[in-house]
Amino acid sequence: MRDRGYLLLRMPDFGLTTDEYAVLADVYDRDLELDRWLPPGQRRRSRAYQCFDVAVDGLVFTPNDTPRPYVQSMSVNPLQGGLEREFRLVPSGHPVTAVAEKIARTVAESLVAADLLTERGPARLVADAHYIRITAPGEPAPEGVHHDGLLAGSAHLVRREGITGGVSGAYDTPTHCLESFELTEPLDSFVFDDRKVMHYTTPIEPVAGAERAFRDVLLIGFRSS
Ligand SMILES: [Fe+2]
Repeated sequence: MRDRGYLLLRMPDFGLTTDEYAVLADVYDRDLELDRWLPPGQRRRSRAYQCFDVAVDGLVFTPNDTPRPYVQSMSVNPLQGGLEREFRLVPSGHPVTAVAEKIARTVAESLVAADLLTERGPARLVADAHYIRITAPGEPAPEGVHHDGLLAGSAHLVRREGITGGVSGAYDTPTHCLESFELTEPLDSFVFDDRKVMHYTTPIEPVAGAERAFRDVLLIGFRSS
């Protein structure tokens, strides 16, 4: 991670019970709303959001039920940069909060181990949890190969059904892929140093005859404010 700028985790042990995984997967069927910030005509992404304040010392996560709007710069997101986007908030009382926190803490531990979060950096961070479903045919990353504008982030596959595509990659330039990989099993994950590498995921297509065709991911982002 420290040298390459990314880490691929196959079926990682986040310490989730079967029930906790079920709570997480259920969010995508019950709690998402259509992404109203997409350009007109694009209705293939639905999402929900949670925000945590993080004390780096001890990795103490505190849910924030009144987060500020989510803003990316135009340089990292030419489609939605500069917009103050507000997403449907999953309240801290929702049972998935503890599940997201468990996953985010494990990611944060790997970032500490890679010296990406240290006592030399900010003492407090914000961790964003984005619950996102892309329905096929759809584009997980319509902005192309990109940075998120964060310190670091991670993508965790929750479920994929009835689709092909959705191949992710880490890039050192917009045109040079360091490694591509498909997250296929529940909780297969990709952790990245956002300042060092770019990322992208290819469009998804429905397989013939599929009753439902979608890809559910949990995206975690760590930023300084
Ligand atoms: Fe991204």
